[in-house]
Amino acid sequence: MQMHSVDARSVSPLHEKPGEIPCREKKSSSRFWFQVLVLFGLLVIFLCYSLSSNSLFLWEGFSLFAQAQRVNAPSYWVHPNHRVILNAFHKNTESPALQHEGLQYHQAFPQNYQFVMDNAEVCKNNTPFLVLMVPVEPENVAARDAIRQTWGKDTMVQDKVVLTLFMLGLSGGADVEGLRQENEQHHDLIQSNFMDTYLNLTIKTMVIMDWLATRCPTAAYAMKVDSDMFLNIDNLVIMLKMPGIPEINYMTGRLMWNVPVIRSKDSKWYVPKELYPYPQYPTYPLGMGYVFSNDLPAKFVEVSKFVKPFNIEDAYIGECLKKLGLSLTSPPDSSQFKTYITIYDRCEFSQVITYILGSSEQLINYWIDYKRPGPHC
Ligand SMILES: *[C@@H]1O[C@H](CO)[C@@H](O)[C@H](O)[C@H]1NC(C)=O
Repeated sequence: MQMHSVDARSVSPLHEKPGEIPCREKKSSSRFWFQVLVLFGLLVIFLCYSLSSNSLFLWEGFSLFAQAQRVNAPSYWVHPNHRVILNAFHKNTESPALQHEGLQYHQAFPQNYQFVMDNAEVCKNNTPFLVLMVPVEPENVAARDAIRQTWGKDTMVQDKVVLTLFMLGLSGGADVEGLRQENEQHHDLIQSNFMDTYLNLTIKTMVIMDWLATRCPTAAYAMKVDSDMFLNIDNLVIMLKMPGIPEINYMTGRLMWNVPVIRSKDSKWYVPKELYPYPQYPTYPLGMGYVFSNDLPAKFVEVSKFVKPFNIEDAYIGECLKKLGLSLTSPPDSSQFKTYITIYDRCEFSQVITYILGSSEQLINYWIDYKRPGPHC
């Protein structure tokens, strides 16, 4: 518009040459047609410019928006020039975060993967009140053993059945026979046939949801809890038994509001705009440990067909909730979902539900101290 008015002004003196007979009507009509011509010309110039090779940014916003609007963003929706950049982007294998080649919506749809081990009988024999689902790398036997000795030990907590299961993907370095024996001993490994990598954590989370929905639908509540956590299982069960805790559409934990998407390629949490175009995530529960009513897993599985996957598993859960039209509930006491531990305090450990720890040894040591008799505070 700026350019247009400047142009119109710069040519207008031609029409007002001294000596020319003023003819109001003629003049205004020719001026009108001139303006139409100028507008049309500008439109042509704009289109040519947009199609030229160095005007990507004009299209970027539009095509990302278009991608976000579509269920299965096909490549032809992207401007040809943009596609070239995208291809170059995908071919850059220097950073592992860039290996999202051909990522489609169905990648996080868990039913595309098959269970190698599923321990389907564990929920048939019991009706659990709470199932703790722990994603862990196949190689990390130490973390599993530490959990089996600590918060994953008891199957009865305050007269409630609580199960602890470990979710594994496939890994080149895994000891297949060792895993089989480990499962024979503990009956607590669930393994699915996707590659167990950091960037595939969203798939892992959705496979957890699939297992809960199909192998353990009778459970009342479930929790996704990381393997490096201190979990005060007593306080968690107390919380879930409180009157007023919903039985459906309930999800709680450490709620994250207005978290900006990280676009720095050096970050562990880097997400390219092509995977997630918006500047910030919807409210989501921090991935270290979130608790939910067990009607939600089936809903997540279903909605995941329509929510484009990206590599931040907890924010993906936030997207799924948003798509389902559901919102998170704050825990009765938000201070119970703690993150990084600064110093061990026996009194504090008796009051929290979660804490992020540094190692499996730490978990064992703190647990031994937390469980020793005597007043906590
Ligand atoms: C994620 O898992 C899929 C299925 O096994 C695999 O094809 C893909 O390479 C994995 N992606 C990453 C980034 O590890």
